[in-house]
Amino acid sequence: MRAAAFTGFGGPEHVTIESFDDPEPGPEEAVLQVEACSINHHDLWILNGDFWVGEDQLPYVAGMDVAGTVSAIGNDVEHLETGERVLLCPNQTCGSCRFCREGPESHCERFSLYHGGLAEYATVRADRLVPLSDAVDPVEAAALPVSYMTAFRMLEAAEVGPGDLVFVPGATGGVGVATVQLASVLGARTIGTSTSRAKLGRLEALGADHTIESGDPDEIRESVLEIGRVDATINHLGGPFSEVGLNVLRRGGRMVICGQTAGPTSTLTLDDLFLNQKRVIGSTMGTQGDLERLLDLVEGGRLDPVVHERYPLAETDRAFADMADRSAVGKLVVEP
Ligand SMILES: NC(=O)c1ccc[n+]([C@@H]2O[C@H](COP(=O)([O-])OP(=O)(O)OC[C@H]3O[C@@H](n4cnc5c(N)ncnc54)[C@H](OP(=O)(O)O)[C@@H]3O)[C@@H](O)[C@H]2O)c1
Ligand SMILES: [Zn+2]
Repeated sequence: MRAAAFTGFGGPEHVTIESFDDPEPGPEEAVLQVEACSINHHDLWILNGDFWVGEDQLPYVAGMDVAGTVSAIGNDVEHLETGERVLLCPNQTCGSCRFCREGPESHCERFSLYHGGLAEYATVRADRLVPLSDAVDPVEAAALPVSYMTAFRMLEAAEVGPGDLVFVPGATGGVGVATVQLASVLGARTIGTSTSRAKLGRLEALGADHTIESGDPDEIRESVLEIGRVDATINHLGGPFSEVGLNVLRRGGRMVICGQTAGPTSTLTLDDLFLNQKRVIGSTMGTQGDLERLLDLVEGGRLDPVVHERYPLAETDRAFADMADRSAVGKLVVEP
């Protein structure tokens, strides 16, 4: 089979099409014929050589968000049939720790994520497959898992409800757009930022109530406060946007952080945190149940996952270049 593999670390020039043996399912596994796999900033971190994958693992096939058709199943798998259309929940959990037993599974002590979807075939755990109805386009389904599950859980952790005002620094990417859309499903209003006026125009069309064109944290703080203090900050940028995200909260407001695109550390003004009864919460991914709920929203016509562009497998390098250039609004999806 063919796969888009990382053959070195650095830029998109290290993403090349390679041949691998056709996979066979082991016990408790299924092989999917991949119809669509979206990419995430997580994959870009790996390509850049920043995290998780070493030289000894090259060539490396990334890709966590996989939709496809079951082409083979392991002997002991009883709940699946070949030909079924499915979406992979990329969570990999131990099944035995306290959080696997009592929930939420996203807190699993040995939590990790599936990689390997940027290929014609992917071998996955059969119990991580969610059925996909004929009504859902596999490309739209593949946009959901990492970005929308993460945004969904963050909004829940921030207790966002009808009428709330939610601040989303960096609102045009995978997690950002998902947050704006899901906040709207919950009846909340949003303030989104981007360095690009053109991308903000698209974000407004997708339902953002207020937009701020800036990448400067101090300027953004001022602009948000002109609109009004927020109930929640949903923050995947980290770095200096964390201090701003805290400062613009109303008394008792919540900031949830899932990422550090703009930097791994931040200064927080502690008296703003404790005197104003604010909360800062960390969050990673969501549960397979969350993914099923998100698919229900899509099937019910209440959520339309935003796909910026579809790429053939041979142009996976271009998808990574578009993410690195920050030219996209929403998800970039490869169709092997
Ligand atoms: N913990 C978890 O479970 C989890 C799950 C998903 C994602 N994440 C993390 O969340 C972050 C977002 O992921 P994603 O896939 O949504 O990424 P993405 O699609 O690349 O996000 C693009 C957004 O980030 C902004 N941005 C990009 N680089 C920036 C920089 N250097 N400084 C400031 N803003 C920047 C862009 O702003 P412009 O519009 O101005 O270009 C755009 O709004 C990543 O750090 C990722 O690792 C964590
Ligand atoms: Zn566990």
